[in-house]
Amino acid sequence: MSFWKRFIGKKQAPINEPFVNPVTTELHSHLIPAIDDGVHQWEESIEVLRFFSALGYQKVITTPHVMADFYKNGPDTILPWVGKLNDECAKQQIPITLEAAAEYMVDDGFEQKIDAGQILSFGTKKYVLIEMPFEAPAPNLKQILFALRINGYTPVLAHPERYLYYAANVKHYHDLWDAEVLFQLNLGSLVGHYGPLQLKAASYLINNRMVNLVGSDCHGMRHAALVEAALRTPLYEQVCQLPLLNNSL
Ligand SMILES: [Fe+2]
Repeated sequence: MSFWKRFIGKKQAPINEPFVNPVTTELHSHLIPAIDDGVHQWEESIEVLRFFSALGYQKVITTPHVMADFYKNGPDTILPWVGKLNDECAKQQIPITLEAAAEYMVDDGFEQKIDAGQILSFGTKKYVLIEMPFEAPAPNLKQILFALRINGYTPVLAHPERYLYYAANVKHYHDLWDAEVLFQLNLGSLVGHYGPLQLKAASYLINNRMVNLVGSDCHGMRHAALVEAALRTPLYEQVCQLPLLNNSL
């Protein structure tokens, strides 16, 4: 059964009132082929973009990993793919536009990239998506936040609900929020994909209106069912009531 029919069935909406995804810009995915742990073949990138289009997205800002040790990506490895994938979408009549930024690990090499002006940001406020290790907070986080700010960037923390060292003491969330770090929630967290504690943290952030952006963190078609399921949850309906920035990007 199709996504639409299932959704309509669940919500018991009249057949002439199909579900409309209120979020039309998807932010946070790994769709540039073979440069990180996301999709490996460009055909799968197109498959995911076709899937996103069916879910109501009109624009996708994909965000490959940039890590000093593992994924040495930058504008040179990321940007050449954008035109190619958009051309293929047009050829296959998939009504979606692809743009690219990146997801930067807060590691030792990051500050150097900021200083060198090699950062791929998105949106008018030069948003920069950053992530941290899952074991412990990055020791240089404060330094990085400062470096981003003085260079005119707005930091966006990817999936704060996945950092259990923060979830264990929600004061950390409030400290970051008060420091005007933006929060991007992962859709997978809404269906417990990362675990019950991450679901609980996601719920806390939504209930406290501490979410600025939502994103799939999609690494390939293996995450398709997950994204689809997340859109049908009451938590998604709730987070969409917040003043999300997605559609302004
Ligand atoms: Fe990611």
